[in-house]
Amino acid sequence: MIDKIKALLQEVENMKAANAEELEALRIKYLSKKGEISSLMNDFRNVAADQKREVGQFLNQLKEATQNKINELKEGFDNVQTGNDDIDLTRTAYPVQLGTRHPLSIVKKEICDIFGRLGFSIAEGPEIEDDWHVFSSLNFAEDHPARDMQDTFFIQHNPDVLLRTHTSSVQTRVMENQEPPIRIICPGRVYRNEAISYRAHCFFHQVEALYVDKNVSFADLKQALLFFAKEMFGPETKIRLRPSYFPFTEPSAEMDISCNLCGGKGCAFCKHTGWVEILGCGMVDPNVLENCGIDSKVYTGYALGMGIERITNLKYQVKDLRMFSENDVRFLKQFESAN
Ligand code: DAH
Repeated sequence: MIDKIKALLQEVENMKAANAEELEALRIKYLSKKGEISSLMNDFRNVAADQKREVGQFLNQLKEATQNKINELKEGFDNVQTGNDDIDLTRTAYPVQLGTRHPLSIVKKEICDIFGRLGFSIAEGPEIEDDWHVFSSLNFAEDHPARDMQDTFFIQHNPDVLLRTHTSSVQTRVMENQEPPIRIICPGRVYRNEAISYRAHCFFHQVEALYVDKNVSFADLKQALLFFAKEMFGPETKIRLRPSYFPFTEPSAEMDISCNLCGGKGCAFCKHTGWVEILGCGMVDPNVLENCGIDSKVYTGYALGMGIERITNLKYQVKDLRMFSENDVRFLKQFESAN
């Protein structure tokens, strides 16, 4: 019987079928109830007890090999069939379209990375805020125009629920909850009730930086600003600080950089001044520190805030702010290589 099984094994191995019908005939020949293997199974009953083990193993092997071979031949037919129907091997491959980072995300990441190298870590806060965090804690007078409905979006006319108008609100949230030293950078979206045009939008993005510790001075601020400007716009970049006013800093300043288009010689972009304004900054007003529970006799700090759109415009000369929120792929794809 073993010889017969071996012969069948050989036969099965060489088995071929030209089409599905031939294959079905083979299946019936070997595997059906009246097929070769079933009849061997029947004969197995008569095998002497001491040989049952060996013969049984051969039989199982044969059954398995036959089933595998038939499956294999069947798969061959299946593939050929779908190949004819669905797959056109001559067609050019689809290129896989990868998405690209939004230019504002690219610049936001770059700003955060630069300050990260100075030891700043990222902090975030809510976009729907209250009056305390956006205005009162930051030393805004009761009648400050920024609190006006003209500038601020209030939610359901409740003067205490509003969309933040700047990311300075995150300063308060962190100072209320954390002991100095504090060194944070806060990127985020802000909202103002502005008519939409090429140069203004009702929402835009800012990055705020705050450093509070013992003995933080204006010189530290200036050094950080210079480092940032050179990293962001190139080593030739110069900075200048002009006195300014913000309720939450004293003294306050605005920083200009030498125009990165004409290198400071004067061009249409910098209105022939050689300088372009990029951010506001100053020493944290002691009132603000006290409002957040930080002893202003022990600690001092500096803060700065900038618009991400503004920095992006300077880097990439985007003339119309609205491009940033229209999601026109012809615009967005131009930033592919900046990823
Ligand atoms: N919050 C200001 C704005 O929205 C920007 C700003 C100016 C932030 C001076 C600061 C700062 O931290 O010191 O225009």
